[in-house]
Amino acid sequence: MEDLHDKVAFVTGGASGIGFALGHALAEAGARVMLADIEKNALDDAVKTFAGGNLPEVRGIVCDVSDYQAVERAARVTIDAFGKVHIVCNNAGVGGRSGADGISLQDWRWVIDINLMGVVHGVRAFLPHLTSHGEGGHIVNTASMAGFLPGTGFGPYTATKFAVVGLSEALRAELAPQGIGVSVLCPGWVRTRITESRRNWPKEYGEPPPPRPGLLDQHIAELVRTGMEPSAVAALTLAAIRNNELYVFTHPHMRPPLETRVENFLAAYRKLGPAPQEKQA
Ligand SMILES: NC(=O)c1ccc[n+]([C@@H]2O[C@H](COP(=O)([O-])OP(=O)(O)OC[C@H]3O[C@@H](n4cnc5c(N)ncnc54)[C@H](O)[C@@H]3O)[C@@H](O)[C@H]2O)c1
Repeated sequence: MEDLHDKVAFVTGGASGIGFALGHALAEAGARVMLADIEKNALDDAVKTFAGGNLPEVRGIVCDVSDYQAVERAARVTIDAFGKVHIVCNNAGVGGRSGADGISLQDWRWVIDINLMGVVHGVRAFLPHLTSHGEGGHIVNTASMAGFLPGTGFGPYTATKFAVVGLSEALRAELAPQGIGVSVLCPGWVRTRITESRRNWPKEYGEPPPPRPGLLDQHIAELVRTGMEPSAVAALTLAAIRNNELYVFTHPHMRPPLETRVENFLAAYRKLGPAPQEKQA
């Protein structure tokens, strides 16, 4: 989707961090934008920052992506408000962290419900519309480099981000014939509020797990604090939408560990001996 002018975009997690930057970049490119977020006050503040400028219309809707009915409702409101939707950014996510020994099932469910099911809900709620209006569309799912490189002590987060990468790859092949592009955003550390994710812990999940002050959390907080600017991540994402690219990688220094991972796969496979087609050649 080369020209984003007069297109309509829906961005979840739009009140903060990467989602807010995506909303901004899309509006600057000429798209009208619906920011969706669970945090009403932050959302209102985010929408206010667009008021009075020369950018296209930006609105906000409170929406919990883990609740399918809420996402479906947000899709209806967005279509009613703007007529059509062309770009869906399933970006809302939380940074669950727990070692295998300490993680509660509620913690697992919270991270999966938002990071994975939130993406599933966004795809399901918008896909019939994207494919029906005939103007093409693009879906951006926010995964992470944790979708390729597992983080020790981040089992649930890693599991959801691997799932989002896999889902995006499968969707891309499936939706290409219908003119719908799919990108998966895979950033490394970005300067956002991700380490404060538990601010949105819902009471339905019971008591939030206690904070785990320790060196690992301090180290992560520092990596996020000194991470890439969300606006730089958003700029790379817009380029991927325009060029219809599957993978949006953002952090060059993470390429070597990714190469090591791929080499490890190949080394394990080579133990089986040559593939049948290699034997024939
Ligand atoms: N910051 C990083 O280093 C980093 C790295 C890789 C991937 N990511 C991914 O980027 C995405 C955005 O996170 P961020 O870093 O901008 O963090 P952030 O906390 O600054 O923003 C996340 C936004 O999602 C919203 N949100 C949380 N739960 C929600 C729900 N149930 N429904 C709707 N909105 C909800 C929050 O209110 C917040 O506005 C996430 O998917 C995260 O996993 C972040």
